[in-house]
Amino acid sequence: MAASEIAVARTVEALRETVASWRGRRQRIGLVPTMGAIHDGHLALVHAARGQCERVVASLFVNPKQFGPSEDLAAYPRTEAADLAAFRKAGVDLVFFPTVEEMYPPGFATSVAVGGVGEGLDGAHRPGHFAGVATVVAKLLLQALPDAAYFGEKDYQQLIVVRRLARDLDIPVRIEGVATVREKDGLALSSRNAYLSAEERRIAPLIYRVLCDAAASLAQGAEVSATLERGIATLTAGGFAVDYLELRGAADLAPMTGLERPARLLVAAHLGRTRLIDNIPVAPG
Ligand code: PAJ
Repeated sequence: MAASEIAVARTVEALRETVASWRGRRQRIGLVPTMGAIHDGHLALVHAARGQCERVVASLFVNPKQFGPSEDLAAYPRTEAADLAAFRKAGVDLVFFPTVEEMYPPGFATSVAVGGVGEGLDGAHRPGHFAGVATVVAKLLLQALPDAAYFGEKDYQQLIVVRRLARDLDIPVRIEGVATVREKDGLALSSRNAYLSAEERRIAPLIYRVLCDAAASLAQGAEVSATLERGIATLTAGGFAVDYLELRGAADLAPMTGLERPARLLVAAHLGRTRLIDNIPVAPG
């Protein structure tokens, strides 16, 4: 293999063979699941994995099961050559890049549904989304059997859903959360930011400012529902169509009416045809 190339496994069998050889040498293995269109947010996960594991596997798979019928599966950015180059530069040892048929062969009939933490917020606004995520993540964890798997806090509910699923199904893996990587103006890096027009890109950081303002108000003792209503009104006036802005328990995503324990402010809003999500921690007052 040339120095400019990176090892790619296109089948579960090839993935398992390489991982087994590493495990035989007692090397720790970190898994970074992605859907590609790689940016510095994804690479922060690779970096975290490299810090804790001798070997890093990144997966690259646009998972059709987690997109609703009217969502952006067909438009989702596909930049495989650049993704492989970015993974190589970041020190990924192996990219698992399966076809849809490899992941979901004819007759595939199993779905992993995570209740509770998977039900509100995006679970309510994107029916079937978390079942699609949980199904593919359960498969990836069982295919690679890593010591640790890395997920971004950017998709906070996803991180909590994956923790729940690993615990509930006794999958022997550590789930590590990695802080959100942002642009200088606060906008969280996302593959979907590529959909924004120049004008929308200018407006988009409002979503982070509203989160920070609301968190500051809550820390000063402001009432929760009034603070959230004000945030929604600011976003709406700024041109967003808000799906939700909510305060939830940081560990269990339970609704909160005060700041009695660590919390998370989570938001989802549409800007034109782009759906943006973001969240930040709120410490108890
Ligand atoms: P994707 O959107 O490609 O994201 C892959 C991982 O990168 C996720 O864990 C996500 O939270 C993390 N990530 C994305 N943007 C980030 C940012 N700005 N800062 C830190 N981390 C960030 O999330 C998915 O793919 C899929 O649902 C997947 C888990 C791969 C299952 O298909």
